[in-house]
Amino acid sequence: MSKLARILLVSLSLGLSLCAGPAFSQGEDGLRLVPAPINRLDQESLQRGARDFVNYCLNCHTAKYMRYNRLEGIGLTPAQITDNLMFASQKIGDTMTVAMTAKDAAKWFPAPPPDLSVEARFRGRDWLYNYLLAFYRDDTSESGWNNLVFPNVSMPNVLWQLSGTNKLVETEYDEHEKAAGAAIAAKGLSMLEAKPGGKYAMLTVAPDVPGTMTRAQYEAFVGDLVNYLDYMAEPVKNERIHLGIIVLLFLGVLYVFAYALKREYWKDLH
Ligand code: HEC
Repeated sequence: MSKLARILLVSLSLGLSLCAGPAFSQGEDGLRLVPAPINRLDQESLQRGARDFVNYCLNCHTAKYMRYNRLEGIGLTPAQITDNLMFASQKIGDTMTVAMTAKDAAKWFPAPPPDLSVEARFRGRDWLYNYLLAFYRDDTSESGWNNLVFPNVSMPNVLWQLSGTNKLVETEYDEHEKAAGAAIAAKGLSMLEAKPGGKYAMLTVAPDVPGTMTRAQYEAFVGDLVNYLDYMAEPVKNERIHLGIIVLLFLGVLYVFAYALKREYWKDLH
């Protein structure tokens, strides 16, 4: 194998191993998150996510660093954006803001809904994906809801009609190792919590009352939404990925010519 080919192979495998990462991440807080099954180059998924974001999230949250016309970057035409995603009074160069003022929000919610423009960079995709799957019924909380990923969050489960309701399932073990083993065996989202008397609990959520979507449909719905949130946090990243692919293709073609040239130069010397 030529030296160049070897260098190319090594850098390729290094790149792949960096991309792959672990399947599950276990945080210091004892949370075990399911990886978000998303692809930011999938335009149809991004378009569905944008539509769902406008319909289900934008009435409380803003995305004030995102302009509507940036949605052309995910393959929507200006007409599609103005007709389907905006109020009549808004212009396509406007940012994604809401009618609710910060004052109202402070009155209605103990903690105001934060701006979600760059939320995916702050929390990460996996966190967001699991957060939207982690709501469960809790009669002791003010909103009637609680969340395994964000305990005592003041956001209600606004997607409950689609997702149905979950309940919290808590199993106690006398050792940390047994609880950790149970979390791995459960495969899904889970959390470990220290209990009095040196015991450990493995917490997870389980479906209770079904919603209008099946579990798989709801997971796909949340996947699209998180895909869009991730895109919104860094729209130009898609352009960088496309440019990267073009550069690699160019280098590949260049390699063929450079190799042919090298053979031409060296052929008389062998
Ligand atoms: C009824 C109003 C309301 C709607 C609709 C709503 N949220 Fe929220 N959301 C809140 C409030 C209030 C908080 C602040 C919770 C807190 O800090 O306790 C919040 C917090 C969040 C957070 C955590 C922010 C942080 O602290 O990092 C995320 C993420 C989030 N919402 C995403 C969404 C998404 C995605 C949707 C659309 C599916 C949505 N929200 C719809 C009210 C809402």
